[in-house]
Amino acid sequence: MNIDATTKLCGLIGNPVKHSCSPLIHNTISQMIGNNMAYVTFCVSEEDVGKAVEGARALGILGMNVTVPHKSAVIPYLKEIDPLAQKIGAVNTLVRVEGGYKGYNTDILGLKRALLRNSITLKDQEVIILGAGGASRAINVLCAQEGAKAVYLLNRTLDKAKAIAESVNQAYGREVIHPMMLSEYEKLSGSNYICIQTSSVGLAPNVNDVIIDDGKFYEKLAVGVDIIYNPATTAFMKKCQAVGKPAMNGLSMLLYQGVEAYELWNQCKVSDEITDKVYEILKLHLQMK
Ligand code: ATR
Repeated sequence: MNIDATTKLCGLIGNPVKHSCSPLIHNTISQMIGNNMAYVTFCVSEEDVGKAVEGARALGILGMNVTVPHKSAVIPYLKEIDPLAQKIGAVNTLVRVEGGYKGYNTDILGLKRALLRNSITLKDQEVIILGAGGASRAINVLCAQEGAKAVYLLNRTLDKAKAIAESVNQAYGREVIHPMMLSEYEKLSGSNYICIQTSSVGLAPNVNDVIIDDGKFYEKLAVGVDIIYNPATTAFMKKCQAVGKPAMNGLSMLLYQGVEAYELWNQCKVSDEITDKVYEILKLHLQMK
């Protein structure tokens, strides 16, 4: 990389940021397409989020990613917000506009694109979402936005599922999200569900943990999607595969949230060919960790 007086800068704010794969994603794309842009990380404490955004604006920084724990805290400091990010209540990408930044949620745009790349569309489909944390909330919004027929939101703590369902159903003016206890999965009578695993169950080092153990549950699925990418094949994915169902991990979602941000900052399209190459580099990098 040849940093000079015309190099554009993008960066990530969060705490911690040391283990982020985003510098690898963005700097690799820049190198491959010959774009004079550098991407670095900034560890920012909670009380400094507003100052960081204002400082970035003053310095002419092209764009920022925002990670845990600032994805909601950053919203009051934005000039504009994309309607989908507004509904989700979390922003992970800041794009420079006149006088400040516009906030987007490319985590969810990235999931949509990763699903599409795997020929999975949500329109008119029945979806099961496992878990009701922050990632789940965003995925419920995506399903409603994309016109899913019904979403069965299963969680250990029913109240958390109910809270997500209430706010998403209200935002979209239809009863699309149906909150259920995790243990109620036997009540699901369909046989073609897209199942998205959003909980932290199965994340390394607890690689043998799975949120639902019963093999019969997995027979009801068309496909399983785990948002975890470490390990590369989660116990949830193994359960799907054991009954002959396709399953994907969260690595392409991670990659595409970066690609979507890169495209917004640089007003360009990153080709499938480049994306596939970065995917392989990212996979190797994670295997070596
Ligand atoms: P994030 O915000 O990153 O999406 P989170 O807030 O940590 O994740 O949410 C984790 C999800 O995993 C929650 O839905 C949690 O269930 P509860 O709401 O009942 O806490 C779910 N989860 C975590 N450990 C679990 C376990 N052992 N069994 C079932 N669900 C679990």
